[in-house]
Amino acid sequence: MIAPNDATHGSGRTAGQVVMARLDELARFSAEPGVLTRLYLSTEHKTAALRVQAWMQEAGMDAEIDAAGNVVGRYEGQRPGLPAMLLGSHIDTVRNAGKYDGCFGVVAAIEAVAHLRQARERLPFAIEVIAFGEEEGARFPVALTTSRAVAGTLDAAALDALDTDGVSIREALQQFGCNPSGMASVARRRSDVLAYVELHIEQGPVLEAEDLPVGVVTAIAAAARFMGEVTGIAGHAGTVPMALRRDALAAAAEMILAVERVGRSTEHLVATVGRIEAIPGAVNVVPGGARFTLDVRGPSEAVRDAGVAHIERELKSIAGRRDVSVQLSHSYEEPAAICAPWLVDQLAAAVERNGIAPRRLPSGAGHDGLAMISLCPIGMLFVRCAGGISHNPAEAITSEDAEIAIRVLIDFLRHFASPGGSAD
Ligand code: GLV
Ligand code: MN
Ligand code: MN
Repeated sequence: MIAPNDATHGSGRTAGQVVMARLDELARFSAEPGVLTRLYLSTEHKTAALRVQAWMQEAGMDAEIDAAGNVVGRYEGQRPGLPAMLLGSHIDTVRNAGKYDGCFGVVAAIEAVAHLRQARERLPFAIEVIAFGEEEGARFPVALTTSRAVAGTLDAAALDALDTDGVSIREALQQFGCNPSGMASVARRRSDVLAYVELHIEQGPVLEAEDLPVGVVTAIAAAARFMGEVTGIAGHAGTVPMALRRDALAAAAEMILAVERVGRSTEHLVATVGRIEAIPGAVNVVPGGARFTLDVRGPSEAVRDAGVAHIERELKSIAGRRDVSVQLSHSYEEPAAICAPWLVDQLAAAVERNGIAPRRLPSGAGHDGLAMISLCPIGMLFVRCAGGISHNPAEAITSEDAEIAIRVLIDFLRHFASPGGSAD
């Protein structure tokens, strides 16, 4: 156990308990009562960001909200201005989310810094904790917006992306209180950072099945997202005979089953339609249009791209047979991100020093590391989650596992060595 101390607010609570209480508190900042939905640049995102900023300050960090809406806290090393180890994760959520995806990595990193500060410990490098504003792609048809900004790879055109109400990222940033023209200033210089290390819930069942509280990530899967648009002919539900219909929604339904079939038939490929919309969407109208999202992932770009090509062929063939058209437009693409082997080894060593077998495993889920790898080496530590369930309000971890993960993180930081020799 990390000894209770002032960093745990004089309450005698363990670090794991503090983190769990904070995650419960963050979960209340939501667009809907009783359900957790916190989209990028929403008012609840702002409330959560301010709370996180206050926790960072309480932990001894200088903290600010940057031009992309990230909360960034800095804990100086043995002298001011040293290169920084970046820690963090995201505080946006999917719709009807669990409490732990993303937020755990942010709150746990703040707690690790609080303990170093309590121990009056300065490391041979600075630590920066980043609460990224947008990882999920749940509001705008782009993802990793804010980690791309930090990595310096955000395409300025991304700011024109619109949400379903027609609000652009640029407008939403202004409403949030950020200056979109300051976006370029968010990018970090390579020489100012050592690495990016993220704690995250596993979102899968492996650690639980093997009775392990934590595991070290080796790589993050390659992903691509599309918007599918099917166009048929709208008509009267009472008068157009079944044989003469060009029903876009019925065609899209068949396409969704084809997506599932391709995903099932290819080893390690996963393919998902997560949202569908009928146009015009009325009880007595044969749908003239349908729109759906498509998310395809694989352990490598080759597996992913072969899957996408297969899906495209199936969709075209269904559209031809039903006399409708289908268009897939690309909204997001990331290659697989390989965690730096030397960071994997150092995280595994910290796990082992804490008496736990150092299980290494890949991540099927996407993470901010997908963007951060363009800036610096990345590493990740997974924490076991109940039933492997995620993107679901039933997401759960234990305060004991949270405690172990924070202990491993602190231990990793204390032993961290750049591959070149010195930490800075
Ligand atoms: C983010 O959680 C993703 O993997 O889509
Ligand atoms: Mn996440
Ligand atoms: Mn997620």
